[in-house]
Amino acid sequence: MRKKGKLFTVCVALAVAAGTLTGCGSVTGGKRIVRISHAQSEEHPEHLGLLAFKEYIEENLGDKYEVQIYPNELLGAAQKAIELTQTGAIDFVVAGTANLETFDKTYEIFSMPYLFDSEQMYKDFMNDENYMDQVYEATDESGLRVMTWYNAGTRNFYAKKPIHTPDDLKGLKIRVQQSPASVNMVKAFGAAASPMSFGEVYTAIQQGVIDGAENNELALTNNKHGEVAKYFSYDMHQTVPDMLIANRNFINGLSEDELEIFKEAARISSRVEQEEWDACIQEAKKIATEEMGVEFIDVDVARFREKVADVQNQMLEDNPKIVDIYHHVQEVNAKAKGEQ
Ligand code: GCU
Repeated sequence: MRKKGKLFTVCVALAVAAGTLTGCGSVTGGKRIVRISHAQSEEHPEHLGLLAFKEYIEENLGDKYEVQIYPNELLGAAQKAIELTQTGAIDFVVAGTANLETFDKTYEIFSMPYLFDSEQMYKDFMNDENYMDQVYEATDESGLRVMTWYNAGTRNFYAKKPIHTPDDLKGLKIRVQQSPASVNMVKAFGAAASPMSFGEVYTAIQQGVIDGAENNELALTNNKHGEVAKYFSYDMHQTVPDMLIANRNFINGLSEDELEIFKEAARISSRVEQEEWDACIQEAKKIATEEMGVEFIDVDVARFREKVADVQNQMLEDNPKIVDIYHHVQEVNAKAKGEQ
């Protein structure tokens, strides 16, 4: 699969070089082809959300646009696919916030361990469109416009051996996303951080290059990591979104009416993705337990939280771009607590 992915990337790169796929996008049969890249399988909630995006665009603007979705890192791993979106070789990409950190440091906020007090508070924060619009504008200067968010769940450690306490992480080599904040977090937990792209993780665990990784439950099944790592520990260190990111010139080139349709398609896709999420997680847990022999371990989360208490302060000191957002999240957390 990796080989196929690389071959496909090479083909797209050649197409770009040959000018058949240009910064202005490609036109086939009179229709503008809108390409979307993502890293997940076709069963993943994000793919289902994107199918709803495609359907809405083609229902409303089908005479002008055809939407093509490329799953499984076919157009390249997250960092590469964001760069292709930046240059306009493709039009949209879905990527984790950690991958956006190198494009704008505002996105480091989501890598802050234990930022949200609960999943509900995270959803309240993310669904506040007025507030999030300011966050989405952060990457404008890099030529990227974030359109909406998808639930990417809660991230937890999983490995070849069980992790019950933070001490069990000592000396382990854990894959992290290619983000400085994630590297710091894993180091603070006492493990060695090994940044690499998502598609490389399976083989790295299998070959013993790393001992484990950290992610949501779907990594076990959709990405088959449960075949090579049998212990998944609920330390819940991050609750994070993925972003639907557009090439900014593409968005700016739309008429007002078209833009409204693209925005509505993004909203619908986010809704569909979120609706699918919980059921997919339950199913993944069942498959991982019953068919893959993965053991899910409940841990004392407070002990893990203590371990990275300084990371929050350090991040706020080092990165002025996240300070206001951090305080806003605290307000959301406090408000939700008051209402409980
Ligand atoms: C999840 C998340 C992706 C992210 C991936 C990773 O699948 O949805 O956006 O890239 O984890 O850990 O790389």
